[in-house]
Amino acid sequence: MARYIIEGGGRLSGELKIHGAKNSVLPVLAATLLTKESTVHNCPALTDVDAACNILSYLGCDVDQSGGSVHVVPGDLKGCGIPDSLMREMRSSVVFLGAIIARCGKARISRPGGCELGPRPIDLHLSALEKLGVTITEDHGYLECEAEGRLQGASIILPFPSVGATENAMLAACTAQGSTVIQNAAREPEIEDLMHFLNSAGAKIRIGENGAIYIEGVDELGSVDYSVIPDRIAGATYLCAAAITGGELLLTGVVPEHMASVFPMLEEAGCVIKARGDTVYLRMHGRPKPIRLVRTMPYPGFPTDAQSPLMALSCIASGTSVFVENIFESRYKHAAELARMGARISIEGRVAAVEGVKRLHGATIKCTDLRGGAALVIAALCADGVTAISEIHHVERGYQDFDTNLRGLGAVIRKERKTEDGQECEKKQ
Ligand code: UD1
Repeated sequence: MARYIIEGGGRLSGELKIHGAKNSVLPVLAATLLTKESTVHNCPALTDVDAACNILSYLGCDVDQSGGSVHVVPGDLKGCGIPDSLMREMRSSVVFLGAIIARCGKARISRPGGCELGPRPIDLHLSALEKLGVTITEDHGYLECEAEGRLQGASIILPFPSVGATENAMLAACTAQGSTVIQNAAREPEIEDLMHFLNSAGAKIRIGENGAIYIEGVDELGSVDYSVIPDRIAGATYLCAAAITGGELLLTGVVPEHMASVFPMLEEAGCVIKARGDTVYLRMHGRPKPIRLVRTMPYPGFPTDAQSPLMALSCIASGTSVFVENIFESRYKHAAELARMGARISIEGRVAAVEGVKRLHGATIKCTDLRGGAALVIAALCADGVTAISEIHHVERGYQDFDTNLRGLGAVIRKERKTEDGQECEKKQ
């Protein structure tokens, strides 16, 4: 089991190129099933990307991963089901459902269970697919989905702008017969990225001024060569890391507009931010100021995925910051681990009040989830003494070369791997 050993107190400074967006590349890889042949560039080297490639290979696609690109030739698929073991490798594997149904007219996948963020229902995904003509039944934890003939375009109104449900509906509708409108669709940049990928392959999808997604079904998709957008959440995470150390960071290869809701919060904390072209520059001096209110919202609101990194920063602010988590039920699990480092956080349902302390101290802690884990690393960067963070596989699901990148910016962090009997077997400096 690997863990990070971090000596706090150093100041981060330098330049960092941000990798491709995990939350874009996963639906895009699912979408390759609908194409004749796809090459997807700017794919981050993450375990979730490997898991998506494993699913494509299992289904019978020819998949070639090299460097930051994945080449997929679906050919004649071997099957239209995903076994439970593969589904469990990746939290967002449910996005394959819409693509498999569109391609095969049927699909069999296990129902995704809950996760560290609380229950992850898929009712909105399923009712959108039902609108398009899919009949869904459950059998011993498996969802059996079947359409009679071609899927039919429909009017879909999502009660909540779910990212995954919007993606599944887009994937299923792009080769359906007739037109589909998705109202109250999610507006995250990753949705637009999926649309651009599908349109590059011949789909007819557009986003209306009202935010609704309009899809004219086409008979089939062709070949596509596509580069996914940069990871706005990784960008926001590194900004928080630099800020907590009173540092200076130039992010390159980003789309600043995608991170726009994060900037005012960092500015309120005292950071100087300059966004120019595809770069974002941050400079921070001294102790952060408190942030009055951070409310997570669907895009273009403040992203739930950036809540915990920002909370880490507010732990050492010169006053109390308040967070309201409106997207996921259990997204404050990192707070108990931050408390072990001396943070003062009180939680009441969806609200967390963070009373800033002057200093955090090193501790032995563990990652509770992907973004919460990143928050612990950020906190450790400014803590007195040494912090040992275990369960780092959570973090490595979403950040490529996290420790190496932070070390490149001046952090004192190393990854330590231990054998089962607790012996250290490898040190990476
Ligand atoms: C995606 C992102 C995740 C991000 C989230 C919100 C990926 C791989 N993951 O997750 O990083 O935190 O968007 O921006 O892109 N819900 C239902 N029923 C459904 C679907 C969702 O009740 O059928 C609820 C969820 O429980 C949650 C909320 O809607 O409370 C938002 O979920 P959703 O937007 O679907 O997030 P994901 O697509 O799972």
